[in-house]
Amino acid sequence: MPEIAVTILGITGLLALVSLLPPVANRLNLPFSVLLALAGCALGIVVFFGQNLPMTGLLGDFVVALRGFEISPEALLYIFLPTLLFEAALMIDVRRLMDDVAPILLLAVVAVVVCTLVVGFALSAFADVGLIACLLLGAIVATTDPVAVVGIFRDLGAPRRLSILVEGESLFNDAAAIALSVLLTAMLLGTRSADAVGTTIAFLKNFVGGGIAGYVAARGAFALFPFLRGLRFAEITLTVAMAYLVYVVAERYLHVSGVVAVVIAGLVTGWHGRIRVTPTTWDSLVDMWAQLAFWASSLIFLLAAMLVPRLLTDATWDDALLLAILVPAALVARALVLYGLLPLLSVSRVAARVSNSYKLVILWGGLRGAVSLALALAVSENTSLPGNVRHFVAVLATGFVLFTLLVNGTTLQLLLRLLHLDRLSKVDRAVRDRAIMLSLDAIRQRISAVAESDRIAPAVTARICETFAQRISDVRRTAAADLILSDADLLQIGLITLATREQELHLQRYKERVVSRKSVQVLIARAGWLLDGAKTGGRSGYEAAAQRGFSFTVTFRLALALHRRLGFTRWLAQELADRFERLLIVRMGLQQLLAFNERQLMALLGSAIGEEMTLILGKRVTGIEQGLAALRLQFPEFARTLESRYLERVAAQLEGAEYGDLLADSIISREVHNDLGRQLSARWQDLERRPPLDIELRREQLIARVPLFGALDTQRLHAIARLLRPRLALPGERIIARGARGDSMYFIASGAVEVQIAPTPVRLGSGDFFGEIALVMHQPRNADVVALGYCHLLVLRQRDFERLLAGNPDLRTRIDTVARERLAPPPAASTAAQ
Ligand code: CMP
Repeated sequence: MPEIAVTILGITGLLALVSLLPPVANRLNLPFSVLLALAGCALGIVVFFGQNLPMTGLLGDFVVALRGFEISPEALLYIFLPTLLFEAALMIDVRRLMDDVAPILLLAVVAVVVCTLVVGFALSAFADVGLIACLLLGAIVATTDPVAVVGIFRDLGAPRRLSILVEGESLFNDAAAIALSVLLTAMLLGTRSADAVGTTIAFLKNFVGGGIAGYVAARGAFALFPFLRGLRFAEITLTVAMAYLVYVVAERYLHVSGVVAVVIAGLVTGWHGRIRVTPTTWDSLVDMWAQLAFWASSLIFLLAAMLVPRLLTDATWDDALLLAILVPAALVARALVLYGLLPLLSVSRVAARVSNSYKLVILWGGLRGAVSLALALAVSENTSLPGNVRHFVAVLATGFVLFTLLVNGTTLQLLLRLLHLDRLSKVDRAVRDRAIMLSLDAIRQRISAVAESDRIAPAVTARICETFAQRISDVRRTAAADLILSDADLLQIGLITLATREQELHLQRYKERVVSRKSVQVLIARAGWLLDGAKTGGRSGYEAAAQRGFSFTVTFRLALALHRRLGFTRWLAQELADRFERLLIVRMGLQQLLAFNERQLMALLGSAIGEEMTLILGKRVTGIEQGLAALRLQFPEFARTLESRYLERVAAQLEGAEYGDLLADSIISREVHNDLGRQLSARWQDLERRPPLDIELRREQLIARVPLFGALDTQRLHAIARLLRPRLALPGERIIARGARGDSMYFIASGAVEVQIAPTPVRLGSGDFFGEIALVMHQPRNADVVALGYCHLLVLRQRDFERLLAGNPDLRTRIDTVARERLAPPPAASTAAQ
């Protein structure tokens, strides 16, 4: 048989085996990887010890094919790692990851370093392969496979933030562990010297350089997307090419970490890709990557597990002893991070609080998976390394992975039972029971209606309805017997339901295309905060999350800082427009939630709780209305454009649905339908382009609004214009702090501020100025000044202030007089500058 046929037979035979295993894992309630490892071991026994078995034909050729597999360490790393890492990064919810990126990165990197050191030093006392080889083993076993833990958290309904913590940590610790093990391997090979400082610097350079390479590659790929004209297969192919290209280029040409590059490229793709490609393309892309990763991890598992029987025959009692040290050492290392570092991060409110039982699940569920195996295989196949090191790493890493799979993996369910985590919480049970009762009742009513319209014999109907009544009363009886819920529990149930509903509503709006993907991602993430808040802190948690959701985003603040420091306004305008759109959508959503609460939740939870929730929602509506009113006041034109665009989108959506109905009812032909569809999609293209928000920060325009400058001739105006800097102030922003050193004064071109002086604060509006007293009198600021809404200000710095007044005696007199009037006791109610 030609060699290629043998190889294909081997690979496809393995894939056929892989395809049969998931249902078995489901039935046995075992993690899939555990079963894969077992199957691999069994296969290994057949392949390596079955020389004498009478196998001929297809089966015999298959075994021969497997026996002949020669995989170089490079092939392992280059073929499998990019897929595994890119997919993991792609699937993670980047927005939620970014909320907690600092603790995740810290946890990941520290966890890898701690594991490498603890395992390395623990083993080096007993093994005779040298410290570096022991550290290498530590780095290899530092990666964790989050699938099992995340699956459990999902089943338990644990806060989403916790899963993100585990997933994110595992993603970055893969990257860190691989980068570190590559460095350590280089040291073993003698291509890098073994000094601690040099290694740390090289490690950081590798890490950061890889990150930059990944970012640039992904952004570059998206820059090419317009050339692909929305062709799905081309776009998906480009992502595959990019993932592998960036890996090769980073490793071979840039000499930075390829894995970090792939991870960052995956994250950027997850972030931008969702917005840049159509929802259908995105779904196919995700499916394709999930498929590739499934193949990659399954094959690695099988290939590695197949080596186990052979490794075990080489293994000695010394290896068993070392494994007996490795297992507790790795556990201690992980426990140090979970019980030492994580609480510190939680106390300083950098990371989510994690309950002790969840910590134990994370500790025991820290299974090691495909990445550790791939690295161990790569070392074992690396013939340049000394034989005893290869043996040491391969046997112990593989043994450890198998231990975590076979011991931890199979006892995880038992642990859940011991921690009482296998049962739904009181609140979850109550939610379930109430939902079941509601839907059974709804079904009973619908059945009666169907029976009546279809003229079913009343006796039959009565019998069927009776069974439903019986089931409802059964649920009620068991629910009442086993649950006594406090009002706080009921309120928590209600808020969890509301937050879940809010996520669904946003998703629905996105499917109806009335809200952009970019906005919907933020909205869903924020509804996720509400859900986590309600789950962990009930009412106060929900309200705190709502408050947080209303605050300005990090990107908004960045854009604002850029505007203030360098005068850029485009990004800020974009962020403001995004905020506007999101506030509008949330307000609409809240309206629907209020109705949902009255129609359904009140019946489920009682009217007292229902009213409480109306109040909580009402508070959110008021906050949002205020936010919208402030924006509307300053940008009325844009508000109208947004609202009308929203309605037009709803109309286009309805029109599309209408054409679909007409086609389905054969009232119009397919050609006519296509023609109408073409016209409609042209309109959609228009509607999906949001008009830019003009935040009107042009100097001349603003100066014209300040009457104080009205009397000046054009030449002077020009001179002044050069000295004044436009600035946008946000509602509630403290522009001046009492007691601070004064370095500039402000003219209000539009908007209003409040000067907070006792006994009555003073409001200043368009045309007024403030902040002059500190400059004129050379004294600290004498009051706080706070923006009441969005304000367009013109800032005059102290240096320019002197220059300006030197050439304009009238202006000086005017400003001096106002300053003195304001300082004169008792303070005037309002001092306008005209
Ligand atoms: P300054 O002291 O530099 O900073 C605070 C500013 O508040 C102050 O300048 C004035 O511009 C303004 N301010 C202080 N007192 C009054 C007042 N009584 N009426 C109006 N504005 C005032």
